Amino acid sequence: MPAGNRLSADDLTSRELGLMQSPNQPSAGRYPAGGLAFPHRDLTGIGQLARHEILYLLDEAEQWVDLNRQSKKKTDLLRGLTIINAFFENSTRTLLSFEIAGKRLGADVVNMHAAQSSVKKGETLIDTAMTINAMRADAIVIRHASSGAVRLIAEKVDCPVLNAGDGQHEHPTQALLDALAMRHALKLPIGSDLNGLKVTICGDILHSRVARSNILSLTALGADVRVCAPPALMPEEVDVMGVTPFYDFDAALKGANVVMMLRLQQERMSGQFIPSPREYRHLYGLTPERLAKAEPDAFIMHPGPMNRGVEIDSTVADHPTRSLITNQVEMGVAIRMACLEVLTRRTRQVPGWDAVGAAA
Ligand code: CP
Repeated sequence: MPAGNRLSADDLTSRELGLMQSPNQPSAGRYPAGGLAFPHRDLTGIGQLARHEILYLLDEAEQWVDLNRQSKKKTDLLRGLTIINAFFENSTRTLLSFEIAGKRLGADVVNMHAAQSSVKKGETLIDTAMTINAMRADAIVIRHASSGAVRLIAEKVDCPVLNAGDGQHEHPTQALLDALAMRHALKLPIGSDLNGLKVTICGDILHSRVARSNILSLTALGADVRVCAPPALMPEEVDVMGVTPFYDFDAALKGANVVMMLRLQQERMSGQFIPSPREYRHLYGLTPERLAKAEPDAFIMHPGPMNRGVEIDSTVADHPTRSLITNQVEMGVAIRMACLEVLTRRTRQVPGWDAVGAAA
């Protein structure tokens, strides 16, 4: 990667910079003052964020990476606040890490699993959201199988809403944690973007909210993004996504600094999109032989859950120095702490954050 071309938050215009922030913030002085640094009440998608707002969340997460590596991991910043994780779709990493994040910040965290809720008795999404709202949650984290469900709920409730993955639309905290994992792997300092980094995302691009959020985030951060999929799993709008599409995985890997593999999203497929898992692995699976086509030190990423032996081989997934898969999970807790802490600043009456929520 051409390090000389790399931009940082220091490249913001003077208008964007505004006044200096409190010096006890990790990103002090790099971003607009107070709530102007992140003027959104909700985090519904990367598509709503400016480049410097993405960088702001990454920089805020750095302090939580440090804290999480200590034996005592708890703060009381969010003491007295209630966070509800409402998951209408299965999750391991996202649910657990949001729960850990809220608890490490000192909040009371409650998980609502749709499978054990009155959703099973026919209650509508809006009625469920209004019920949670009436309990005076201070933040609601939502995962739902329908694209747009999180935005719909955000319009109905009185507190910040965080998207933990909605259908094929977005998974913003996944993209943020992925960018943070890349920044750490490359040993880039706070404030750095990913300018010039060649990232190949391969798999079921069509159905993947992880791909969508990562494309938005990585292109905003200056990465050169290639997406690779069988023709049936490539979105029609790929030409306007600011990425280079590939159908030949070997070609997509040439020169790649990072290879991000995605699973086949069988639960979102109606019909036959691939001939067989065996055929798919043959053409699009990341094997050691195929990884050799990328840069010699290329990093390997996967948001999980993985289907070993289909989109990725175990020797690649478990590579001791190049696989970032467990680093991604670690960064997930820090990013979710940053998002919860930043989005509750208005509620906590943090000076300068009283007007947050003016932007969508
Ligand atoms: N990456 C991700 O969203 O994983 P989970 O479905 O386990 O939360």
